[in-house]
Amino acid sequence: MEFKGQHILTAEQFDKKGLLALFEKVREMEEVLVGQRAVSDGGKSKGFEKTLDGKIMATLFYEPSTRTRFSFETAFLRLGGKVISGADMMNTSSAKKKETLYDTGKTLSQLVDVIAMRHPEPGSVDELASGCSIPVINAGDGPHQHPTQGLLDIYTIWKNFEGKIDGLKIGMVGDMKHSRVAHSLCEFLKYWNVEFVFVSPEELKMPEVVVEELKGEDLKVLETTDLEGTIGEMDVILTTRIQEERFSSADEAEKHRGMYVFDSEMMEKAKADAILMNPLPRVDEITTDVDYDPRAKYFDQVGNGLAVRMALLAMVV
Ligand code: NCD
Repeated sequence: MEFKGQHILTAEQFDKKGLLALFEKVREMEEVLVGQRAVSDGGKSKGFEKTLDGKIMATLFYEPSTRTRFSFETAFLRLGGKVISGADMMNTSSAKKKETLYDTGKTLSQLVDVIAMRHPEPGSVDELASGCSIPVINAGDGPHQHPTQGLLDIYTIWKNFEGKIDGLKIGMVGDMKHSRVAHSLCEFLKYWNVEFVFVSPEELKMPEVVVEELKGEDLKVLETTDLEGTIGEMDVILTTRIQEERFSSADEAEKHRGMYVFDSEMMEKAKADAILMNPLPRVDEITTDVDYDPRAKYFDQVGNGLAVRMALLAMVV
């Protein structure tokens, strides 16, 4: 697949070859980060920090974010580019005056070289991109997709299992209905021969389109409400918070809170070589004592995400 100049709107855009090419680039970026953050990398990173010299990225965030926006911005800065940051676009931009995303895209195309955008509406990023002559990267469109989080998640799996993803049993636990992170990760994992176990309350099951697509690829999918009975088989455990902001009322979300909690006791039931992932923020689904468990990878994911976004931006811009 071609990266240069492309919009990155959904995970479906990637094929396996594209993913593997990206992973190679991510490795290079990890070297760059060693060079920038530690004392020395023996000169390996020489030159990379100028890759985006003279380029400007705008981040347009219409929804809250800690990791994703700072990660995009850090990635761009670490490659020598400059950043304009829109952190509260619903209130501070002309969205407040009912400007369309199409017009916002037309406008920003006159100003900057690339946009990373987050918005609560599924498909919003496509509307912005339809007005853009510069690449747009989806940083989360409502409950629909979050392709760069999916990329950093599959990279985390690939890295931890040393490239051997085939044969893994992938558990995803929590609010499968609204987790754009889980939706995007499934799109990437379908290129490998894996089995899925989706654990969620009945009302928060994985959307049928996602399940059907995986089954269509001849991949085994088990959907259950039972974590204790299935955790012991999982090689990868992706947990997600209840996406409170996607419910009609706080009470509705509250009903599901505390249903699947990963504490030291629960982790005793997990495989010794499993990895525990979470896109963060965590609310109550992982207790902090688990942070010291070597299987906990959720803060490593943040580090991987920086290298992944550096690689992607270097390839796209
Ligand atoms: C996720 C998101 O925004 O979808 N967070 C992230 O990008 N790291 C997950 C979440 O908010 O629960």
